[in-house]
Amino acid sequence: MTGDIKKVLLSSEAIDQRVRELGAQITADYQGKEILMICILRGAVIFMGDLALAIKVPVALDFMAVSSYGGGSTSSGVVRILKDLDESVEGKHLLIVEDIIDSGLTLQYLTENLKSRNPASVKICTLLNKPSRRKIEVDVAYTGFEIPDEFVVGYGLDYAEKYRNLPFVGILKPEAYGA
Ligand code: IMP
Ligand code: MG
Repeated sequence: MTGDIKKVLLSSEAIDQRVRELGAQITADYQGKEILMICILRGAVIFMGDLALAIKVPVALDFMAVSSYGGGSTSSGVVRILKDLDESVEGKHLLIVEDIIDSGLTLQYLTENLKSRNPASVKICTLLNKPSRRKIEVDVAYTGFEIPDEFVVGYGLDYAEKYRNLPFVGILKPEAYGA
């Protein structure tokens, strides 16, 4: 599995450290409030687990699955809800937790969709951000790392459902995705 990695971009230690910082920042920003963390399946699941442990105000967890890419590595621009939230978001402080923002199309759609359900607030927290790839502007409150325009895997991120359990974020060799 690690043989398909061209370069380690973010070590496990660097990710742990940054997740703790984000947790502290979110804790400070939400004093006296309760957060409903919305994990965007499946890539954000590992990040959300670690982030939730680093937040010291009460949190509830819910999960949403959308499809934007299918099995490939380029955006189709089509967003579809595959699994909706189990609970109502009305009156709640929502924190959307995403693995990576690439074109921004997925999050733009999700944010508008969730805002229409009358939450108290909606903010976005993403582990990774590829600003150079943005097709549509999205307002991101918390970013773990800005990364260059490379296809990355690990710490939850996949290529065709593989590599999610790598403890670091690495750049995939182009030959591993048939480029
Ligand atoms: P967007 O709608 O183009 O912003 O796409 C966001 C989604 O695309 C993420 O939630 C990921 O599932 C996927 N994605 C984008 N870039 C990468 C990458 O470099 N590695 C793995 N998945 C990616
Ligand atoms: Mg994916």
